Amino acid sequence: MTDTALAPPPPKPSAFHELEVLSVQRWTDGLFSFRIARPDDFRFRSGEFVMIGLPGEDGGKPILRAYSIASPCWDEELEFLSIAVPDGPLTSRLVKIQPGDTVLMGKKPTGTLVLDALTGGQTLWLIGTGTGLAPWLSVARDPDTYARFGRVIVCHTVRNVADLAYRDFFTSGIHEDPLIGEEAAAQLTYYPTVTREAFDTPGRITDRIKSGAIFADLGLPAGFSPDRDRVMLCGSMAMIKETAELLEGFGLKEGSNAEPGDYVLERAFVG
Ligand SMILES: Cc1cc2nc3c(=O)[nH]c(=O)nc-3n(C[C@H](O)[C@H](O)[C@H](O)COP(=O)(O)OP(=O)(O)OC[C@H]3O[C@@H](n4cnc5c(N)ncnc54)[C@H](O)[C@@H]3O)c2cc1C
Ligand SMILES: NC(=O)c1ccc[n+]([C@@H]2O[C@H](COP(=O)([O-])OP(=O)(O)OC[C@H]3O[C@@H](n4cnc5c(N)ncnc54)[C@H](OP(=O)(O)O)[C@@H]3O)[C@@H](O)[C@H]2O)c1
Repeated sequence: MTDTALAPPPPKPSAFHELEVLSVQRWTDGLFSFRIARPDDFRFRSGEFVMIGLPGEDGGKPILRAYSIASPCWDEELEFLSIAVPDGPLTSRLVKIQPGDTVLMGKKPTGTLVLDALTGGQTLWLIGTGTGLAPWLSVARDPDTYARFGRVIVCHTVRNVADLAYRDFFTSGIHEDPLIGEEAAAQLTYYPTVTREAFDTPGRITDRIKSGAIFADLGLPAGFSPDRDRVMLCGSMAMIKETAELLEGFGLKEGSNAEPGDYVLERAFVG
């Protein structure tokens, strides 16, 4: 028998990074953001998602869920925007995290909400409901976005005004960003809509597309055009389905990493 045969097998590399929580921001009882340290070897494309979780309780299996990375690909920290579902296996615990705590993160980011999955165009529409805003925080902070599109429009539909997380960031904070601030000031438009209380631009984004109100508000020609518009969709499945049907009606075709197209989508949650 050789020495090699006697040696114990090398320990299996862990499937997850264990990362320190650096900061937490609470928007409402049901919505919070957190930032974690980024491992040196972790690379991703702005708009991708990764598995995030916590160790199991009482020696049980870890609990992991998909999360869009809300920070851009160049950032030294990683940011996430999370819902808190009262009985949710992960988020009922994740909502209690504090700086200094540890979270688990998968090693393989992936996803279709990336610039690579779109063909060239003039205007990039980033349409999200609820936590479906998260990937736009990444894409809207990526210099490539402004190099590839002359105009970028972030649409965020939520139930209540308090759910408009990052409203101040999109209306002013992003203009101070040392990397893309100038481009954002010139090229980015933020278009929030609120469905369950009074607001300047009320109602679902889908209804504002159908009525033409959004195009009138933004001083744009009515409707989407495959010659001009590229669209990313994230959030409620019903919104994605309905908006994708509207886009197909305007002649836009769905894209993927393998075959870039006019619009791409990702279900930010099942429901
Ligand atoms: C590709 C992808 C990306 C995702 N990105 C994010 C993200 O960036 N932020 C985030 O908070 N969640 C995101 N999710 C949802 C996330 O994976 C979990 O579902 C969420 O963290 C709740 O986990 P849970 O274990 O507490 O409850 P779960 O058992 O996973 O969910 C319980 C129920 O809560 C509802 N729900 C779950 N997540 C959401 C949500 N985000 N918005 C509205 N309703 C929801 C659904 O009805 C679901 O059936 C993403 C999901 C996918 C598939
Ligand atoms: N306790 C609280 O105060 C509170 C606050 C927010 C959320 N929640 C809970 O959190 C969970 C997730 O809620 P959420 O608000 O994040 O997600 P959500 O229910 O998907 O709603 C997010 C936004 O998407 C809109 N929407 C839904 N279907 C659509 C469609 N087909 N087309 C266009 N827009 C559409 C909603 O409009 P509509 O309003 O018209 O449906 C809402 O403005 C729910 O279980 C909810 O009860 C609780």
